[in-house]
Amino acid sequence: MKLGLRSHHCGDLRATHIGSTVVLMGWVNTRRDHGGVIFVDLRDHTGLVQVVFKLDVDHTAHAAADALRSEFVIGVQGQVAHREAGNVNPKLQTGEVEILVSRLEILNPSRPPVFSWDEEADERLRMKYRYFDLRRAEMQHNLRLRARAAHIVRNFLTERNFLEVETPVLTRGTPEGARDYLVPSRVQPGSFYALPQSPQLFKQLLMIGGCDRYYQIVKCFRDEDLRGNRQPEFTQIDMELAFTTPDEIYAIVDALLERLFRETIGVKVPVPVPRMTYAEAMQRFGSDAPDLRYELHLVDLTDLVAGSGFKVFAQAVEQGGIVKCIRVPGGARFSRKELDEMTELVAIYGAQGMAWVKRQADGWQSPIAKYFTPAQQTALEARMQLAPGDLAVFCADRAKVVHDALGNLRRDLANRLGLARPDDFRFTWVTDFPLLEFDEQSQRHHAVHHPFTSPVREDLDAYAASEPGAIRARAYDIVLNGVELGGGSIRNHRLDVQSRVFDLLGFTAEEANAQFGFLLEALGNGAPPHGGLALGFDRIIMFLVGTASIRDVIAFPKTQRAADLMVGAPAPVDDLQLRELGIRLRRP
Ligand code: AMO
Repeated sequence: MKLGLRSHHCGDLRATHIGSTVVLMGWVNTRRDHGGVIFVDLRDHTGLVQVVFKLDVDHTAHAAADALRSEFVIGVQGQVAHREAGNVNPKLQTGEVEILVSRLEILNPSRPPVFSWDEEADERLRMKYRYFDLRRAEMQHNLRLRARAAHIVRNFLTERNFLEVETPVLTRGTPEGARDYLVPSRVQPGSFYALPQSPQLFKQLLMIGGCDRYYQIVKCFRDEDLRGNRQPEFTQIDMELAFTTPDEIYAIVDALLERLFRETIGVKVPVPVPRMTYAEAMQRFGSDAPDLRYELHLVDLTDLVAGSGFKVFAQAVEQGGIVKCIRVPGGARFSRKELDEMTELVAIYGAQGMAWVKRQADGWQSPIAKYFTPAQQTALEARMQLAPGDLAVFCADRAKVVHDALGNLRRDLANRLGLARPDDFRFTWVTDFPLLEFDEQSQRHHAVHHPFTSPVREDLDAYAASEPGAIRARAYDIVLNGVELGGGSIRNHRLDVQSRVFDLLGFTAEEANAQFGFLLEALGNGAPPHGGLALGFDRIIMFLVGTASIRDVIAFPKTQRAADLMVGAPAPVDDLQLRELGIRLRRP
């Protein structure tokens, strides 16, 4: 006779269950054979429980248990008993009890485990046998927390009258700065769908369609270089509101994140989340995604070193650049090797070099000390607030290079000094992003956020002709511990303004019409003012579970080369399929 359904889950059993008969199912975690007694740790998604096969309880079950190996799938029936004194395992939630098995059913034998969970398994192996990796308690925890978080988001936004709407996956290109994934059309040979980089245009069209407030927990697709917190397909909490303001959006997102962090991991996010402008973020942190867990601010020395005896600084200022430094409290103890490593790091971001000063008790120890008079040194020290035992590191170049180099060095320093505590959650809004950035390669302006973002109206009128780079956007990001969690903007709802922005981006009217004619038409057909934001859902979950790898929060992630090693995607397709699609491949 079969065992039928489970009566309990493995991890649920406690001393209160002692004496009752239970049916459990799961995987053999470990098996220890002590002759007359065989111990098995039985595992399911709730945890482990010890099941015991005793010769004198049931010799058939005991004999069958001899065949059990790790990862066999089994069902057992037995009685919950107190573990013998001395065998109680306080580390296990079920550690007070064990199951004396009277029946065993082997539901499926298993090959030996492909890798061991106890050791740091090779990532490629983890990906190839993802289902096996998912059985791990940590992965189960991550997936379950992710599902709970999605549930909280849905409840929260539904309570606030957001309408969940699904938008198409087979669509046209939506420019978010990456390459599109393309899907060939069979019925229209030579034509392609693009997978959406975000539902940006659809959510705007929903506002024009009178939906008022929209949200979606939605897959987005971007063919871009993959780094630690990027995947080619990832999930956004996407939202859009009609007749809104940035303040309304900040308040909603603050409350959403507050609830999410409290209800999942019990962390209290102080709200309202503080705000700083993009200009301030760059000035003080050298980054538009500042990490506020530590100080290490950038200090501007440009005025003090202009015309100084140190040519590198003086020339940088002459050529319109800036000179900035970071004071590192206690940094005078850094070794030559560490300073060399830091110099190598800033070089990656284009800095020609990194000057430094160690403030010893008796004055400066520095290769550049000789270029500064005692009075100049005193003035610099006062600006930097340099104290004995401190280190100051300097960078002189174009503002972009200095900010990039020192912004990244700031993160590196925080890691070296152990200042970035993972259990410290510091949110900030970064507001007033520039609308455009100049791209040296293509020699034209690009949208910093996307082309549908509204400029600050006065800036547009003042700078469009003379200095487009100075136009601020009504765009904002929410940042946590130096990571961009989400971004959004108020959009162009007026056709005339959107056309002016396309013009600044170098689109001719024909090009704009060819690519976004449907949007331009819609803007002229009663588009309400609107704006919104999208949060990176995977990135939020990374913080909630405390992992540095986005692959730990996605059930079936892709590798750095955008491959799924388990199913073997991407894969070649056969000629017939290609012929149907009207595609001939250029063989390498
Ligand atoms: P944006 O491009 O800033 O904005 O994306 C919003 C958020 O999505 C997350 N994200 C990613 N997460 C994982 N892997 C990726 N490859 C990846 N790319 C982006 C980030 C990011 O902050 N349509 C606009 C939003 C709007 O304007 O409303 C948009 O997509 O956390």
